[in-house]
Amino acid sequence: MNDKIVYKREHFQALPSTNDYLKEKRVKMQRGECEKENCIVTADYQTSGRGTKGRSFLSEEGGVYLSMLTFYQDFKSKDVFLLLAQAAVAVCETLAYYGIESVIKWSNDIYVQDKKIAGILIENVFCGEEVSSSVIGIGLNVTNELSKEIKNIATSMREAMGKTYSAEEVRERLILELQKPRSMQEYLSYIGYMNREVTLILGDERVHGRLLFVDEQGRLHAEIDGKERCLSSAEVSISLQK
Ligand code: BTN
Repeated sequence: MNDKIVYKREHFQALPSTNDYLKEKRVKMQRGECEKENCIVTADYQTSGRGTKGRSFLSEEGGVYLSMLTFYQDFKSKDVFLLLAQAAVAVCETLAYYGIESVIKWSNDIYVQDKKIAGILIENVFCGEEVSSSVIGIGLNVTNELSKEIKNIATSMREAMGKTYSAEEVRERLILELQKPRSMQEYLSYIGYMNREVTLILGDERVHGRLLFVDEQGRLHAEIDGKERCLSSAEVSISLQK
């Protein structure tokens, strides 16, 4: 993700979850049971892919399933949103490379033609005021089958463009894009659905609101009951349905 970081690569045909694999590895590294190093792990498919907020992530063969473990020095916790921003921009740039226009649905979903094509799950370890390491997991639908249950809300590169792609090639392109430095400005330039009436899910509560803008810290500003609210990704998710 940052310039000049060297990553050890591992690829598996199948894993329960590439994020879990690297989180377990991180524990072993911290216990001194294996060498501490930055790693990228990929799998052709996952049997227990995980999404944000405890959800599962369907991970059939034909998609890209990738996780990246990075150790940091002097990475301030206040800048943690940049990790998500960098990953999201890398996905959008990968899609742009293949001529596919995408937007970020705040905070961590990538959408094409109003359907989700990719999701990001980041699991950080903090030490005091700093982020000491992150596991950044990305799932991108390439040519994988989308089940009946998600077909109306999800898409793939194949479905969006009516063409077939090599998941392996897309994976390599994504890894290249992930290693380019990115700015918060780039993330903001990919943000979609602003000024749109949506449903905001705040814990158990569903409220109607209008998306206003995302600020430099990655917080969403939305109008709810005529008032502007500033929300973090931990407290709210968005449903595009009104
Ligand atoms: C989401 O949309 O809620 C986030 C999905 C993240 C899925 C990726 S696939 C690779 C990595 N391993 C996982 O178990 N999850 C992430």
